Amino acid sequence: MKFFYDLGTFMNKLLVSAFGLTALSLFACQAVPQPTPERNQLASFRAQRASIAIDTQLGEAAVANEAALTEEIGTVILKGLQKEAGKFPMTRDVHAKHHGCVKSFFEVNNAALPQQLRVGVFARNQSYPSWIRFSNGQGKPKNDIDGDIRGFGLKLMGVPGAKLLENERNEQTQDFLLINTPDFFIKNLPDYVGFIEATTNGGLGLAGYAITHPGVMYKIYKIFGQKVANPLEIDFFSTTPYKLGSTAVKYRVKSCQPGKTPMPSNPTPNFLRENLSRSLNNQEACFTFMVQLQKDIRSMPVEDSTVHWDENQSPWLPVANIRIPAQRFDSEAQMGYCENMSYTPWHSLPEHKPLGAANRVRKTVYEQVSQFRHHHNSAPRKEPTSHELRL
Ligand code: HEM
Repeated sequence: MKFFYDLGTFMNKLLVSAFGLTALSLFACQAVPQPTPERNQLASFRAQRASIAIDTQLGEAAVANEAALTEEIGTVILKGLQKEAGKFPMTRDVHAKHHGCVKSFFEVNNAALPQQLRVGVFARNQSYPSWIRFSNGQGKPKNDIDGDIRGFGLKLMGVPGAKLLENERNEQTQDFLLINTPDFFIKNLPDYVGFIEATTNGGLGLAGYAITHPGVMYKIYKIFGQKVANPLEIDFFSTTPYKLGSTAVKYRVKSCQPGKTPMPSNPTPNFLRENLSRSLNNQEACFTFMVQLQKDIRSMPVEDSTVHWDENQSPWLPVANIRIPAQRFDSEAQMGYCENMSYTPWHSLPEHKPLGAANRVRKTVYEQVSQFRHHHNSAPRKEPTSHELRL
């Protein structure tokens, strides 16, 4: 009974917040930017999608109607964002609330990798300056005590070589996006389209989706139920796979914090940022960046990210230390800078190409949504080149 009550409460939350897609407002009538991309922008996205190579030897396979499904996802998200057009700044449609962006160093140690997999940023043992954006997953900023997915956006700088994102091919950044669960909760693109439409329309549509997809709702419910007191003390996962040279891998960042912050008894709305700030005030922190190698394309598929890759079959290998020096990160200027940072798994070297349908969709959807948001906020997209704030 409690489960259904909680699921009901949770579904109500989804109505107003999941993936940031608010219920349709009958009263939205002010002039707003167009959600539909212009014809030449659409043509550019189609070309970018068409340029994605399918790595069949790693188990990749194009999905029927993939282009149409991708466009549908982009359009639904933009329509949701359009309802925020009266607000400034327009925040991300998911992972809207950040706890801060912290300066860090990604110190590669490739000893655990076989020689042929020492490629891309793992080619040499070197240190890259990086930014980490800690976030809550929902599209509407909520109190931190509310159930949510927690995000970890990692951006390495000073990474040479042409990148996969056509519009930012010459940028020197490599991004890794992770959340606090090892497995994604949606199996395939048609399910994703159904989910995103249901959460946009809410009400009966969402109830119908919950009835026909109880597994998806239960997985989200379980992630939302995790108690998080300090984002430095939990592990994050890519859930989706990426290339590492000739193979596929998943990523994990494993906390190496010694202590455990207790859950607050009287939680303030932003206690995650406050605890992060307290931890980094006079002490450094760390995570271990790990990869899990694909050992078998059937039991470790790349197209279905709900399938757990068994650690007994392929244990996590440490490949870098993420060092976060003691710092103050929550000045107004730095919090604003963090808001305008852009993460996408396609800010990537070809050696770390994103794999699988969910990742292919993300190439143009993130680009489309981010461009729309940055344009609305009059904040041109600028990839950082150092720890200095380029305001
Ligand atoms: C079809 C699948 C997905 C779609 C359509 C999607 C869509 C989006 C969009 C539109 C944004 C905001 C981009 C922006 O405005 O800058 C975003 C952010 C984000 N997504 Fe996804 N997403 C998908 C799957 C995933 C998966 C599998 C993960 C798992 C790691 C993930 C993790 C994140 C994170 C951490 C952010 C915040 C990045 C930041 O800090 O800026 N997403 N997603």
